[in-house]
Amino acid sequence: MYHLLTRCRACGFGKPVVAEGIKREDNDERLKSVLNLGVQPLANNFVKENEMHSGYAPLEVLYCPRCTLAQLSVVVDPEILYRNYAYVTSPSETMREHFQRLEHDLIDEGASMTLFEIGCNDGRLLRFFREHGWVVGGIDPAANLKAEGLPVITGFWGKDKVCLPANSWSDWTPSVILARHVFCHVDDWHKFIAALDDIANIDTLVCIEVPWAQDTIQMGAFDTIYHEHLSYFTLHAMQALLADTHWHMHKVLHYPVHGGALMVMLRHNQNGVWQQQRHVSVDEFLANETVCEYSWNDLDQKRRGLVIKLQELVKDLCWKRKRIVAYGASAKCTVLLNQCGFTRREIAFVTDTTPGKLYRNVPGTDIPVVDEGALTRELPDYALMTAWNYSAEIVAKEQVFKDKGGKWIVPMPELRML
Ligand code: TMP
Ligand code: ZN
Repeated sequence: MYHLLTRCRACGFGKPVVAEGIKREDNDERLKSVLNLGVQPLANNFVKENEMHSGYAPLEVLYCPRCTLAQLSVVVDPEILYRNYAYVTSPSETMREHFQRLEHDLIDEGASMTLFEIGCNDGRLLRFFREHGWVVGGIDPAANLKAEGLPVITGFWGKDKVCLPANSWSDWTPSVILARHVFCHVDDWHKFIAALDDIANIDTLVCIEVPWAQDTIQMGAFDTIYHEHLSYFTLHAMQALLADTHWHMHKVLHYPVHGGALMVMLRHNQNGVWQQQRHVSVDEFLANETVCEYSWNDLDQKRRGLVIKLQELVKDLCWKRKRIVAYGASAKCTVLLNQCGFTRREIAFVTDTTPGKLYRNVPGTDIPVVDEGALTRELPDYALMTAWNYSAEIVAKEQVFKDKGGKWIVPMPELRML
């Protein structure tokens, strides 16, 4: 079901871990354990009451002292995680605004309205771009997600062959290859980069959007640590990875989505124009990136603090016979509820808009997922904002809950009540 990570996937550092015969003096040459959440359920494996769960796996973060990349100690088989995938991109105003900004930033880089998306999920972004006149295509491994009417290949980027589906493109080389929140889900980064050559030419702009470890740590967002997130991205790691490829970092942008993400734009080394026009943002972000081993110890401290505070708060409210639910059955929700050890006695249900999650339990718990309308139908006393990355939008949308005396408990970046 999973295999052990032996070496850093960016820079190759690390002696393989062997079950026996580990010499003490070898410890300095191994990736270092910095945070351990124990054995945890797969965060998007929502199953019905009587169905078999796909399983549990260790959730431990190892740190690479050579390039600063933190990565999980095990790699769960992607076939288990992604062939039947519950996650769909939120049909939210927050995401629409983000797509708009993305389009603006791509055009700013001279993109000529042809785009290929790696890990295109249910095609929400591709549809948005197509409506704006772009010619689009994509690849995604989830066989259950049908990107209706879009030229999308079912497969894993870097593993399955990409033959661009026929459509109206006169020249099949996309001006942009975009990978949003997929790079850190990938085990073999070298294959991911090498596969770009299958469809890119020296003018293609490669755009990789990833959560930035520096933001994750600052936000205390330990709930973004789950089996799908194999790596906790730093630019220093990216620099190490690209060293022996023909791609280089061209520009870096910082977005607020999902608690803080970087857009890393890559350009081909053989394109002389871009070699001379490397944007200042690359060096600025590299200089300001401070993630080190101790940052991970800080995050672990924040995690312990928040879990205790939240457990105490919930216990106290339960004593007072208050009814508590959670809002947004995100993977983050699975991590948080499992870390706190909550059951349906403490959290009656979690609401979510995703059809594939409804009437199933949050993995590792007996807490059911119900439709979003349940919040105003049932009017609980408190709602834990487990989709905290959409807080502003959700609070505005659920005004009735607030008007009727309901209170929000927001866990990140600090536990607070709204
Ligand atoms: P994400 O943070 O990984 O995108 O997951 C957010 C989850 O929250 C996803 O399952 C959809 C859900 N959600 C709602 O139920 N209502 C909402 O208004 C929003 C924005 C998200
Ligand atoms: Zn490394």
